[in-house]
Amino acid sequence: MTWSKRQHAMLAEMGLRAWDTPVSQEPDVDAAGASVAAAAGIAAAQTPVADAPVAAAATPSAVAMMDWPALREAVASCTACSLCGSRRQTVFGVGHPQAHWMVVGEAPGEEEDRRGEPFVGRSGQLLDNMLRAIGLSRHAGDVPDPARQVFIANTLKCRPPGNRSPLSEELARCEGFLMRQIELVQPRIILAMGRFAVQSLLRSTAPIGQLRGRVHRYQGVPLVVTYHPSYLLRNLTEKARAWDDLCLALDTAEAAAVHVARGA
Ligand code: URA
Repeated sequence: MTWSKRQHAMLAEMGLRAWDTPVSQEPDVDAAGASVAAAAGIAAAQTPVADAPVAAAATPSAVAMMDWPALREAVASCTACSLCGSRRQTVFGVGHPQAHWMVVGEAPGEEEDRRGEPFVGRSGQLLDNMLRAIGLSRHAGDVPDPARQVFIANTLKCRPPGNRSPLSEELARCEGFLMRQIELVQPRIILAMGRFAVQSLLRSTAPIGQLRGRVHRYQGVPLVVTYHPSYLLRNLTEKARAWDDLCLALDTAEAAAVHVARGA
């Protein structure tokens, strides 16, 4: 494989050197993914949690109708699970509300809980480098073109204590928020990072290694699965695969843009 100057620059942004694998493949749209994703409706968000304090929790049908300010307010005041008792603040998400790209991660960590923004710690720096490598940014000021803008959200809006993994009850309580965010942003491509994003969006517990490398769909939106940045920080050799995933997502987004332009 011969690498262009641009590709070398992208790899350097991710802290990688060129290696001998093909960069991009034809997007393999997984039609079966659509039916799995269709099951991921707002209604599924309300698995009852026996001892959860639900008093200030918005109902799923109310969340499904909310506009952006109402949704922000509902997240900020949510007490649907016990995480509300240990958080400093909720972490709604960041980016342009009409970004063409949506990145879905897991849950806020300590730094995110302190600053109220997703992916601002070490894994966030890697994520920003990965996005920059393909010309994308969470900061609309960096890239005026919505096709290059990213909205970043998590499956959970509150930090699990000690950065433990999200519990399924917490995911169930919170997922209506993420689903409404996706409906409002209307992204052209979703990058699902890590197993909890995949569980919420694809209803799959299959390993990332089995799901990556092809295009799934969430409510009709193309979705590419990749490793979580914090996993990549611990497993440097997997960065090469994450790079392939980014290229697949970029190819898919560009193909969708051409399709829209031709159809218009
Ligand atoms: N990991 C995530 O999944 N999300 C964050 O916001 C921070 C770390």
